[in-house]
Amino acid sequence: MCAFSLAKSGRHSAFSDMAATRLSKLDEQFYQTADQFFPAQHIGLTFDDITLATLYSEVLPKDTQLDAQLAEGLHLNIPVVSADMDTVTEARLAIAMALNGGLGLIHYNMPERQQLSEVSRVKYHVPGLIQEPIKVSPDQLIGDVIQLVEERKFGFSTFPVVDEKGTLVGLLSGHVVKARYAKRKISEAMTPRSQLHTIHKKELGKDPIARADRFFSERPGIHKLLVVDDADHLQGLFTMSDVERISQERRAQFKPARDAQFRLVCGAAVSATRNAFGELDRERILTHAGGLVERGVDVIAVSTAHGHSRGVGDTVKLLRSVFPKLPIIAGNVTSAAGVEFLADAGANIIKVGQGPGSICTTRIVAGVGIPQMTALYVCARAAARKKISILADGGITKSGDIVKALTLSNAVICGGLFAGCNEAPGDVMEIGGKLYKQYRGMGSFAAMKAGSAARYGHEKNPTQKIAPEGVEALKESCGSVDRVLAQLIGGIQSGMGYLGAANLAQLRENGRYIRVSPAGMREAAPHDVVELKTGN
Ligand code: XMP
Repeated sequence: MCAFSLAKSGRHSAFSDMAATRLSKLDEQFYQTADQFFPAQHIGLTFDDITLATLYSEVLPKDTQLDAQLAEGLHLNIPVVSADMDTVTEARLAIAMALNGGLGLIHYNMPERQQLSEVSRVKYHVPGLIQEPIKVSPDQLIGDVIQLVEERKFGFSTFPVVDEKGTLVGLLSGHVVKARYAKRKISEAMTPRSQLHTIHKKELGKDPIARADRFFSERPGIHKLLVVDDADHLQGLFTMSDVERISQERRAQFKPARDAQFRLVCGAAVSATRNAFGELDRERILTHAGGLVERGVDVIAVSTAHGHSRGVGDTVKLLRSVFPKLPIIAGNVTSAAGVEFLADAGANIIKVGQGPGSICTTRIVAGVGIPQMTALYVCARAAARKKISILADGGITKSGDIVKALTLSNAVICGGLFAGCNEAPGDVMEIGGKLYKQYRGMGSFAAMKAGSAARYGHEKNPTQKIAPEGVEALKESCGSVDRVLAQLIGGIQSGMGYLGAANLAQLRENGRYIRVSPAGMREAAPHDVVELKTGN
């Protein structure tokens, strides 16, 4: 049962009766329910146009539950999804999202084979196991390693040593990676294979972290555990500090999002690909989706700029006919008719948002799109009738926006908030003493050339001039996904505390809205102070 139908069922009715009495008649004239508020506006509203009223609360932020059942078989522990964009979600970010309880949607601006292996990397990720550790070879000099550490800015200096066949031959300890040994060969300074502690990958069992944790407890002073296969090829590396961090996190409130087989959840985007005759390329779509399903993908997103269109509807129908149980996300739409159309085609989760994204120019270029809170209201009501979920996609710049979005949707999709994270694709660049990462719209000229043109209804190598609907930009580098999500989750929980909502279904019931004037918006941000520190 999807979260909307839960909210509508009798289960929360005692709570909603109580909610009704938590506002006085006078309050109700100003702070209105979604059904009173949005239809009366006759204007498109977005996050900053409104604010939420506080309600009587017995809920402490730390006790709020953020789990979201987006479809049967797709359960998240936090309602946050990272966007299927080529500067946002590949395996590394998808792993970090799932470890935090959310979901990453791997983009499709890459060869299909590569997308399949990105999905595999997420599905077969063993927490704490560095699957492809940086290796060195016995013939290199210690000086080469020092240079590597400096150039790539590694925060570690211990490296497994392997021969040209990938066979483990030793471990180069950080204690000998020193300038005084620069001219020595690694083979002279490494701990040889015969003295190394290793484990066969088959011995890791169902709970590799617990196994590695036991190993480190049993051998004081050993901080690295190397994993090998039958041929003694290096398969990965555990470090004690990672294992300790993960063991601590296991006690955290928000658990990783996993599938029934205890693997991390992962989504992937596909496009409504057309053949040379302009018809839907059914065979290619099915081969692509079939490959993803084989790799264990938990949800496929048919991701386009205009979801209320024949090509997207037919693609969803095709996928639904072949994969009856697979959760399917489809979009993007901003109308009730669009939601109904995609739901009837077989989608169980709909992406809502046309033009709110931080790198989008659709509204400027095409003059089309709906401010996001109004779009969410309209789509939420259609989704409730169809008993499906919706995702608020784009335009989210702060945790307060997420709280507002979640009063009308089941989860949010963020691109810009994660594009500056260490785990996002691309290198960090320094400009004027500050660190940045690239972030570009999938409708930007560069991204469309790289493959996303179909998402915007264009050809990859167009013969005619096409108008980009996104920009190429930079985001300030913002550290790890863990850190960014911790801030967002803290904000969501605060918002739920103010609204007396113990879970997301209650948050959707408790939204009471009022318009904000430009002066009210100024009042909402720090003002008339000299700011010394922003956030933490
Ligand atoms: P944020 O605001 O989180 O938005 O950066 C991410 C969402 O923006 C959409 N997207 C685009 N929309 N032109 C558009 O009009 C583009 O080039 C573009 N690229 C991404 C997409 O829905 C994403 O999740």
